[in-house]
Amino acid sequence: MKTRELINQLNEFLFLEQGQVALYQMMARAAPTRHQRQGLLRLAAIEEEHVRNINGLLLTIGGKVQGLPEFMESQWGYWLSRMGLSALISGTRILANWETVLRGAVLGEEKAISSYRQLLRQVRDREIEAILWFNLIDEELHACWLEFCATQRGKKTIVANIMVREPGQPAREAEKNE
Ligand SMILES: [Fe+2]
Ligand SMILES: [Fe+2]
Repeated sequence: MKTRELINQLNEFLFLEQGQVALYQMMARAAPTRHQRQGLLRLAAIEEEHVRNINGLLLTIGGKVQGLPEFMESQWGYWLSRMGLSALISGTRILANWETVLRGAVLGEEKAISSYRQLLRQVRDREIEAILWFNLIDEELHACWLEFCATQRGKKTIVANIMVREPGQPAREAEKNE
């Protein structure tokens, strides 16, 4: 892959990651439980780390951050504007179905995962590969956690029992949190 092409792709990742920071911060404000609020804030912090990682890579290969207009022409721009709208709607807590917002976020992670995998197939630099793998695995974990929140509510699985329990709360009381 040519450096110019890589710089363009990394810029798209950068905007995606920045969008996810904002999205998860917005979602945290609208989250229905303390568990999900804390989880979403943690996701936002991890996405901030991804932003730093991609910024670092861009600097390493001599690229620079592109402006917003170019980004908005990309498919990421389209996706993020839709996601941003969903999150804003959820913020009103009037029209939105929270599970739909969570599922939308899973789709965003899925898109990030496939994009990271696609770029990994084209890159032959160990340092770049290491960062892309680092971010990719985080995105997979995010997708699992978000999907859990969207689908597992009320189910009596071991993971559900662990994840919905408030600190210090007995296991059988946990369902009241959701
Ligand atoms: Fe990310
Ligand atoms: Fe993510």
